[in-house]
Amino acid sequence: MPPDTEDSPKNIPAGALRVLVLGGTGFIGRHAVAALHASGAQVAIGSRHPERHKSAYPFASLHLVRFEHLLQPDAWASLLKDVDVVVNCVGILRQRPNESYDHVHHRAPAALALACAGANIRFVHTSALGLHEGAKSRFLSSKLLGERAIAASGSDYAIVRPSLLDGEGGFGARWLRGLSRSPVHFIPRGARGGIAAMAATDLGKAFAVLAALPSLAGHREVELGGIRRYGYAEYLRELRADYTGTRALQIPTPNWAARLGAHVCDVLHFSPFSYGHWILLQRDNVPSPNRLPELLGREPLAIRPAIQPKTQPEPHQVHAGKIGPHDLPDTPAG
Ligand SMILES: NC(=O)c1ccc[n+]([C@@H]2O[C@H](COP(=O)([O-])OP(=O)(O)OC[C@H]3O[C@@H](n4cnc5c(N)ncnc54)[C@H](OP(=O)(O)O)[C@@H]3O)[C@@H](O)[C@H]2O)c1
Repeated sequence: MPPDTEDSPKNIPAGALRVLVLGGTGFIGRHAVAALHASGAQVAIGSRHPERHKSAYPFASLHLVRFEHLLQPDAWASLLKDVDVVVNCVGILRQRPNESYDHVHHRAPAALALACAGANIRFVHTSALGLHEGAKSRFLSSKLLGERAIAASGSDYAIVRPSLLDGEGGFGARWLRGLSRSPVHFIPRGARGGIAAMAATDLGKAFAVLAALPSLAGHREVELGGIRRYGYAEYLRELRADYTGTRALQIPTPNWAARLGAHVCDVLHFSPFSYGHWILLQRDNVPSPNRLPELLGREPLAIRPAIQPKTQPEPHQVHAGKIGPHDLPDTPAG
């Protein structure tokens, strides 16, 4: 059980699965937390700002977690007390003082995986599709190093690689929806990779299913995506058609402009477009095989903004029993 503090979860049945969700206040993490809570799990959340998020998660205990301070297995010991499964949804788009890609994507998850191995705790880690050797992006290479360290840790782990996510509250999702509404789309010529965009609600449910498995041995690398493969230009076109019912003018742009734009965005910390994402856009980001239908027991939701509900329920609504992820209509949140 998590520490018996004022914010300890109430009314959780004895014997419930105890899950620590790191980054549980983020875009992916929120969906994981909601699905786990709806499944009856006892949820603890790791956040850099537990006080800030306390009122939104009355059903969970919140713990201070800063990956840059958790670079050795021993440092994780107190957080892992009375935990059956850890779900790691922490990631950074850009480095900040003391929060390097190496710390957040590689060394802290590596130490965590070793700590999980020592404590016999299952470990579900969020990574990404399209990571590859030799990518000249520290964002991507740190994630690949993190995956490799976890695989070598001896823990009972699952590395989850979702495709691009759509849903309310996602930084990238919000930008793509906004870009799609523009009447002119600039499409870099090299953006030829496929995307199997999926709903963030589906990812949350997949995490809840994985967390409940007694062993992750059959799920070491779990690639997930939606039902369709889109090209980047096609994805923007379809989003726009759903939002506005009209077509945009799509103008091809040279690759050097996309690359320069990505570097400028990185320097200015502007938008989700980074050099790492420019590399990803040039390659397929499609799961192979796609294990989402198997985990959900149904087809993934379609990305259809026009028929989505306008708002994603707040975590406190889930707690109050007003709505749970399983009650959501079969459309992406948002
Ligand atoms: N969004 C997508 O489409 C997508 C697709 C595939 C893979 N991914 C990967 O999934 C991961 C999560 O993505 P997301 O979209 O959910 O990002 P997000 O909304 O930014 O959430 C990440 C969370 O990580 C926590 N965090 C950040 N720095 C931390 C640190 N130094 N120590 C501890 N916690 C820290 C933050 O929680 P607090 O503020 O509460 O500390 C934040 O809410 C990333 O690695 C991303 O690359 C995302």
